[in-house]
Amino acid sequence: MDRTNLHRIWKAILIGIILVVAMACYFVPVLLVTIGLLLLLLLCARFAYQGRDRYIPNLYARDIRVYDDDYRTFIVRTLSDLRKRRIHGHTLLWETSRLATPCHPDSDELLLDLGVWIGWSTRLISDICGRTVYGFDTFSGLVEDWRVDDQTVIKRGTFSLSEPFAQRFLRDTGVTLHEGLPAALGRPVQFVRGSTYDTLAPFLAARPDASIRLFHMDLDTYESCLHALETCKDRFIEGSILVFDEYLVTNGEMRAFYEFQRKYELEWRYRAWGLEIWEMNIEMVTAPWKRVAYYIVAIALYWLLGDGRYAWACFSRRFWRFWLSAPLGDIFFMLGAAGQRKSVSLEITGLGKLERIRRGDQRSD
Ligand SMILES: C[S@@+](CC[C@H](N)C(=O)[O-])C[C@H]1O[C@@H](n2cnc3c(N)ncnc32)[C@H](O)[C@@H]1O
Repeated sequence: MDRTNLHRIWKAILIGIILVVAMACYFVPVLLVTIGLLLLLLLCARFAYQGRDRYIPNLYARDIRVYDDDYRTFIVRTLSDLRKRRIHGHTLLWETSRLATPCHPDSDELLLDLGVWIGWSTRLISDICGRTVYGFDTFSGLVEDWRVDDQTVIKRGTFSLSEPFAQRFLRDTGVTLHEGLPAALGRPVQFVRGSTYDTLAPFLAARPDASIRLFHMDLDTYESCLHALETCKDRFIEGSILVFDEYLVTNGEMRAFYEFQRKYELEWRYRAWGLEIWEMNIEMVTAPWKRVAYYIVAIALYWLLGDGRYAWACFSRRFWRFWLSAPLGDIFFMLGAAGQRKSVSLEITGLGKLERIRRGDQRSD
């Protein structure tokens, strides 16, 4: 189900580039010597550089020494743990394909997709596991400004379905709107419109016995993420899978989960680190020639203007942080995809204080 053609095409381009450089080295040996010297220089500089563990892969934007000791330790541990759990595909699809049967056959387990945009993440979850999925969105964009570490601020209202870009994607992927909601397109999905600050609690109250099996967080901002975790906390169970689409942003979803798990002394373990789900929208473009055009534009935009710039824009700090401080495994992992690898999943293995709070509640009933 992991239809990552975008990345297959990028890998083919990479192999093409390597072959062209190898041929050029064969015919112009001085090129081989130059490349060899540059690599040697880089290796020496990496050896001398002391900045290991201060930057997280894919961003290299914020020096984590700005945080207190506890959070910094959490980030460092997170990265060493995640490196053992790299996957090449999309974390959400990977997790969903492992969800096929409910934990308990007659259970009322919820699969929640928080932040759906034109709805493909929700439909894809349902396609893979064949179950009902609930998608939440304002459909009028972010409800607060989103500062991505020390980089750009993405303004409140971004990702509204009225934006020309969204309108184009709706058309090209065959999604129609009905009273402002994206169509289910034959899948058992239900979209809930409104800010999760208003919709999530009543939605759960209407399903008092339902636990959350899959919690896909793609609301992007720290505030919305923390609010959703707090609102859903009584419905998490051992075995709940939480997928965070933008986890490797240290002032966003990671920070929210860090505070949440600490407050309730949750037990949990990381499961996967892979690609974000957004780009699967391109795989859903219906006309093949348009899809190919989207692949090419997406690859070019990512490497020329998007986050991929940090790999070659030598006048930026991120370039030096990446090439000097990223572990070699991370460098190959990052270069191997034309897209963001910030998506991380984890499993709740023990409820900590949440269990005690629930027992206390039952006793007082
Ligand atoms: C990055 S987009 C989601 C992309 C989608 N998961 C996909 O793969 O195509 C983030 C979405 O979250 C929505 N959003 C952000 N904060 C929200 C909130 N508090 N309540 C409801 N929707 C919110 C935005 O409207 C936006 O559509």
